[in-house]
Amino acid sequence: MTQANEQFYCGLPLAESEVRFRRGFVIGADRFLTPTYTISPFSSQHMCDETPTCSASGGVREWFEQRFPGRQAVPTTSGRAAIRLALLHLGVGQADVVTILTTTGNHYISGCVTSEIEKLCKWSRELSPASRVILVNHEFGHPYEAIERLRSHGLPIIEDCAHAFACELLPRLPAGGAGDYAVFSFPKFFPVQCGGMLVLPQRAHVGDVGEPPALIDHVASVVSGHLSHIADWVESRKRNAAVLAQLLAPLDCTQLLPINAGTVPGAFLFRLPPDVDSEALKTHFQGNGVEASVFYGQHAFFVPVHQYLREVDLRYFVALLEDFLATRSKAAAHESGGGVCSSSQSRPGAVGGATIQGKQDRGTQ
Ligand SMILES: Cc1ncc(COP(=O)(O)O)c(C=O)c1O
Repeated sequence: MTQANEQFYCGLPLAESEVRFRRGFVIGADRFLTPTYTISPFSSQHMCDETPTCSASGGVREWFEQRFPGRQAVPTTSGRAAIRLALLHLGVGQADVVTILTTTGNHYISGCVTSEIEKLCKWSRELSPASRVILVNHEFGHPYEAIERLRSHGLPIIEDCAHAFACELLPRLPAGGAGDYAVFSFPKFFPVQCGGMLVLPQRAHVGDVGEPPALIDHVASVVSGHLSHIADWVESRKRNAAVLAQLLAPLDCTQLLPINAGTVPGAFLFRLPPDVDSEALKTHFQGNGVEASVFYGQHAFFVPVHQYLREVDLRYFVALLEDFLATRSKAAAHESGGGVCSSSQSRPGAVGGATIQGKQDRGTQ
């Protein structure tokens, strides 16, 4: 909450607008001079050096059809398009309800999932007699293990594997292999700007789904060229998660979910110390070039963990958190002494909604 006497510069509280140096990192630089870290491994360095060297399209589709024997894989321009296609294939009507279940059972779900569903029907977070389809989200690469138990409801199951490209539910059972439909989003795992895949149930087939062929071929080409790196990237993500857990521990931050054998983290989730204003922290990270956000519904936060991040990048994230804690406590001390800055009010466990912007950011309840 902003105090009347809080002073701002370029939209930031004054204390945060000053450029400073912490643990070897420049923090609070001009907005065109911040680094850029995204949840996706894509960066501008992948703009043109990948496509021409990649094999012809088709490799990725075959990879999916080998991973999910007997099922058809349909390339799409995005994970959202794959969700839409699955729902159209199921023939949902406006009055139908898609019930969304997640690994943590927490309220958080990306707004792009719910808004895609809303184009065709309704959604809920609890199973009820109105539920017509179950969508299980393998949250940030942490598999939802109990899919078989959901079968007793007799409803079709869509596995949302957007962040779970290489995850496994059990040894030799890939995420996407337990439900009826599986949805993938390539930019979450590959250095590519768009693209997805829908895996349909056995014996179900769809023809041409009207996605633009040149774009589909481009994505297939880039992704196909990287299929041989999957095992290495899985290890890099797990290693990055372990390094982050270690670096964050002294700041009283603990990893939210364990990294099990089948987990391949799509983002690193961690609990925040009790008095941290998570919304202000999000502004701080994003203002310093990091696509990070609040894991709404819990007093938790997430940061990128992808395969191209080096230890120095992870140290930057931790330095940002440390800087935030130091700047905010300084501001709080000023406030109690009548200074110009104030600490923001924190409300642990607050669930974000309409005011939150950005694709990754919308926690919907
Ligand atoms: C859980 C989940 N499912 C689906 C999607 C949609 O993927 P895409 O961005 O490729 O449309 C997202 C996007 O963030 C997501 O987080």
